[in-house]
Order: sequence, then C-alpha cells, then structure tokens
Amino acid sequence: MESPRQVAGVILAAGKGTRMKSDLPKGLHPILGVPMLELIGRAMKGAGVARPIVVIGHGGEAVQQALGTGYEYVWQREQLGTGHAASMAAGILDGFDGEVLVVPGDAPLIESETLQALLQHHRREAAACTMAIAELTDPTGYGRIIRNSAGVACRVVEEKDADPDQKRIREVCTSFYCFDADAFLGALPKLKNTNAQGEYYLTDVPEILTETGKKVETWTVRDDSLLMGVNDRYQLAEAGRILQTRIVRRHALNGVSFTGVNAVTIGPDVTIGVDTIIGPGTVLLGSTAIGARCRIGPNAQIEDSHIGDGVVVLMSLVTEAEIGNEVRCGPFANLRPKSRIGAGSKIGNFVEVKNSTLAPLVSASHLSYIGDASVGSHTNVGAGTITCNYDGFSKNRTEIGENVFVGSNSTLVAPLTIGDGALIAAGSVITQSVPADAGAFGRARQETKEQWAAQWRRIKRSGDR
Ligand code: UD1
Ligand code: MG
Repeated sequence: MESPRQVAGVILAAGKGTRMKSDLPKGLHPILGVPMLELIGRAMKGAGVARPIVVIGHGGEAVQQALGTGYEYVWQREQLGTGHAASMAAGILDGFDGEVLVVPGDAPLIESETLQALLQHHRREAAACTMAIAELTDPTGYGRIIRNSAGVACRVVEEKDADPDQKRIREVCTSFYCFDADAFLGALPKLKNTNAQGEYYLTDVPEILTETGKKVETWTVRDDSLLMGVNDRYQLAEAGRILQTRIVRRHALNGVSFTGVNAVTIGPDVTIGVDTIIGPGTVLLGSTAIGARCRIGPNAQIEDSHIGDGVVVLMSLVTEAEIGNEVRCGPFANLRPKSRIGAGSKIGNFVEVKNSTLAPLVSASHLSYIGDASVGSHTNVGAGTITCNYDGFSKNRTEIGENVFVGSNSTLVAPLTIGDGALIAAGSVITQSVPADAGAFGRARQETKEQWAAQWRRIKRSGDR
C-alpha cells in the first residue's frame, strides 16, 4: 500500500482580534487554562499534521513564546487578508509535496477527528481543494458557498460582496480547508484584492482552481460547535462552556461522578480515576492527575498536581504538589509548590505547606505553616506549629524525624534538626537542634500562686486601694 503523503498545517493567526478588547493577542486567550492556538495546534498534531505552521502578526513574539518550538512560524507584517496570510506560509512550503490543512486561529473547539475526516474526504475524492462547510440557520457574516448548475461548489462570496440572493444561501465557508500542496501553491499568487474589503481572500482560491479545471470538493460539518469562531469575550466564555461540557461528559462516561456539573472548571489535560466524586466549585487545571476513589471539593482548586487514590481534598488550594494515597486535606489547606504529602497523612484546616516533604502518616491537623521542611513518618505536628524558615535574608530548612511529637504552638527556628522520637513541649520556641528521643522545653517556666486570683478580685471589688 502507498504510504500516505505528508501533511502540513497552516494556522492563520495574524489578525488583531479587535473585538476581544485586550492587550493579549487573540490566540493566546486561554480556554480552561489552555491558549486557543495551543488547542488548535494540538488538534492539528493529533490529526497527523507533520509540519504545523503558524502565521503570526499582531503580538507575534508573544505567540511564538507561548506556543514554543513545536511549530514553524511565518510573519505576516501587514494584515492584507486570509489569502495573503496563507501565501506567507506558502513561502516556506516551496517544493512541499503533500496536503495542506488550513485552519483559522480563532476556532478553538476543532477536534482531531474532524480534521482527519476532512483529510480523508479530500483523499477519497482526489480533490485539489476540499472546503469544510456548514449549513447555518443564520449565515450572517460568513462567506456563502455558490454552486453551479451541476451542483458543484465553484466559489465563495463574502458577506460584504454578496447580493441579496446570495445572502439567502445558508451553506457557508468555515475557513477550514484541505488543499493539495501544488494546487495551493499554484493558486495563491493569482489572488486579487478587487473586492469590497480590498483584501486578498483565501476564499477566492476555490474559484481559481475550478477555472483551471481542478476538482473542488465540499465536506459538511454536522456539529457546527466544532467550528465556532471566537471574536469577543462572550464567545470566548461560550467556547469554554462547550469545551467544559465535552470534558465533563468524557470523565463522567469514564466513571467519575459530578455532584455539581455546571459549577466545575476542568482543563483538557486533567485525568481523573474511577469512582472519584467531584464536588461543585472545583477547579482542576493544567497537568493535574487525580486518582481513583477520591472526594474532591466542594471548592477545591488544584493545579499541576498529582493526587493519589482515595484522597479527600475539601475546600483547599493545591498547586504543583504531590499528594499520596488516602491523604485527607482541608478544609482550607494551602499546599504550595513542591509540597509532597506522604500516604495516609492528614493536612487539616488552615495548614500551609510549601517546598516540604511529609512522609506517610504525618498529622498536621490545625493552623500550621510547614515551609522548607521534611517531616518523618508518624510525626504529629501540633496545632499552631510554625517553621520559621526565613530570617529576612535566606530560606533555611527544618528537618523533623520520625515519631516526633511537636506540641501545639511551637515555633521551630530554622535551620534546625529534630531527631526521631523527640518531643517538643507545647508553646516552645526551638532554636537549637534536638537529638533523638530528647524532650525540648523552650518556654518560660510556669509559676502558680495559690489564692492569687481570689485575692486580686477582692482588691478590685473593694475599690482598688
Ligand atoms: C473568514 C472567511 C469567511 C468564513 C469565515 C469563517 C475569508 C475572506 N473569509 O472570514 O468566508 O465564512 O472566515 O469563520 O477568508 N487572518 C490573518 N491575516 C489576515 C486576515 C486574517 O492571519 O490578514 C486570520 C485571522 O487572525 C483569523 C483568520 O485568519 O484567525 C480568519 O480571519 P477573519 O478576519 O476572522 O475572517 P472572517 O471575516 O471571519
Ligand atoms: Mg472570523
């Protein structure tokens, strides 16, 4: 069997996106934490595009920086139209012999499967150009598909160039195309800008190809949400809603329960194990991976973190952290970057952990700050324990061993080492390391005076003499 030809992909992303009313380039506006252009680029790569090319213009440097090295970039310094943008990409495709998928940079809901289907239709029909088209009840604003007497889609008329009859056509151009490279490269130099907008329209390419006897095909997309364009922040929010529904559906069908479907935010890369229950108000973003049988939320926000099986995270913030199996976390815990919580540990209310490793079965149940520390297994960190990790100049470490009992309201002034089995008396300020199995008392000695309180009250009541 003949091996399939190489596919190049062109994302048209040089436009300004004026209606976003933003300093951020349009394509970098995130949906569920992922920039629109990244979503489109992934769909392309997922469809087997070997050479993804991004046409950049407005905010081009920022786009390049955000998307990184997985793409080729070409500049369109002046935005002279979609056809002009496509010819910028053609500049680096000279001699390329394969297919070229062209997609707009503002349709973030496109999926690999749709692009693949477009490509397959194109191959099956041996066409020079296949336009993905949609049939809309309200086609206003879109380019209309004009068919000849034989029913062949021979050209596209833009809204601004259309006469009233043409405006009634409901078949529209979606701006997703598949071309044969030689047809694409041959037709682009022939584009003219003699139209209402004075632009070079990519939509004129099908007509040029038809005139030179090349085959132009259409492929109708059934779910037009896939092609939804984002031109303003309302459409951005709407696209987020649609993508969110897809993501929740995927997890739900894989065995995840949602107790508040409409009140969760879950990014496209998040993974969730079976029998996990996600409560309302929960935000899961980035590369977060959640294990099986967890209870997450209500109101948990977890970003770029790894959560084991059987974990409870209630009303807490977890960022770039690792949580072992069967951990209980929250309510109101704050696990900051590089927190590693061992299996079976308990992180209670108002406990903040940063850059610290807790072994399995550590208990820090109330009101603590654990920063730049390590804590051995079975150690109890009493309520109100603070690691004083910062001296105003540098961060210092606190190393706490196994089976240590840190009494409530202890202040551990780093750098400090507390040996295995040691006991820190409640209310201590500990400034020197404590050996294994020692008891450390760093507090003022208590003085108790018999009858003192009664006497004091008597004096007060009799008029302070
Ligand atoms: C385009 C199509 C229209 C189609 C619609 C579907 C043309 C002439 N018209 O219109 O038939 O129905 O998409 O959404 O193609 N861009 C550049 N450089 C430019 C101009 C645009 O890179 O000089 C990029 C934009 O950033 C955008 C994409 O091309 O991502 C589409 O451009 P846009 O201006 O949105 O075209 P529409 O008017 O929507
Ligand atoms: Mg558009």
